Amino acid sequence: MSKDLAIEISHLFKTYRDADRPAVNDLSLSVEQGDFFGLLGANGAGKTTTLSILCGLIKSSSGEVRLFDKDVNTQLKEIKPMIGVVPQEYALYPELTALENLQFFGGVYGLEKKQIAEQIEGMTDILQVKDLLNKRIARMSGGEKRRFNLMAGLLHRPKLLFLDEPTVGIDVKSQQIIIDFLRELNREGMTIIYTSHLMAEAETLCNHVAVMVQGRKLCDGCPSALVAEAGVANLHELCLNLMK
Ligand SMILES: Nc1ncnc2c1ncn2[C@@H]1O[C@H](COP(=O)(O)OP(=O)(O)OP(=O)(O)O)[C@@H](O)[C@H]1O
Ligand SMILES: [Mg+2]
Repeated sequence: MSKDLAIEISHLFKTYRDADRPAVNDLSLSVEQGDFFGLLGANGAGKTTTLSILCGLIKSSSGEVRLFDKDVNTQLKEIKPMIGVVPQEYALYPELTALENLQFFGGVYGLEKKQIAEQIEGMTDILQVKDLLNKRIARMSGGEKRRFNLMAGLLHRPKLLFLDEPTVGIDVKSQQIIIDFLRELNREGMTIIYTSHLMAEAETLCNHVAVMVQGRKLCDGCPSALVAEAGVANLHELCLNLMK
């Protein structure tokens, strides 16, 4: 594995119990350090399943996944401090305030109270949620919850961040705040792996994308090169063609 790779996946398969086809079907893929990578596909394509295997939440049926040249199956303990995970479903406790949630998650990562406070201070301004820290999650809008969900995965400043559909179902302002923040994190050197079915968003954000259809990777590369090669107008059109 090259030193510059953040992720190397070879011949990955995942078949859920009682399923009639694999959710991930022979996926091989490499992501370089510093990439803003988009894993794209329609509902049910296998994006969340792939992401869950990559960050060690579920086990694959077969195949190999290495993060920073460490095996996810056997070296997860060493990998965990380097990665952050922002799930599609909210990870936050609804009855706790945002601050209480962040303090809890910071503690899970083994951070000192002071470190947690510094991280919160740094992120609340950029994400425009400073006034909401003492509000209970249950009383927040989707866009507010998304921003705190994101913060919870970033408290320990991971080298590699996994995000599952971070901007779905929220208003354009919240979307833009999150996008700008992710761009900045990537500029600072964080490798970002994000899943989406929002093709226009992925096209502007990502330097590398892969398109999955029914568990299989149909193409991967730089969005502009893929679009040019296929002779189509944009990523949206490319994906529509691939899904036919
Ligand atoms: N826990 C599970 N048990 C059984 N089947 C599952 C499970 N989770 C997902 N699947 C199935 O695996 C396939 C891939 O699902 P997955 O959630 O990975 O897709 P996705 O691309 O993330 O979709 P979405 O855009 O809707 O989030 C689907 O057919 C889904 O029904
Ligand atoms: Mg999903």
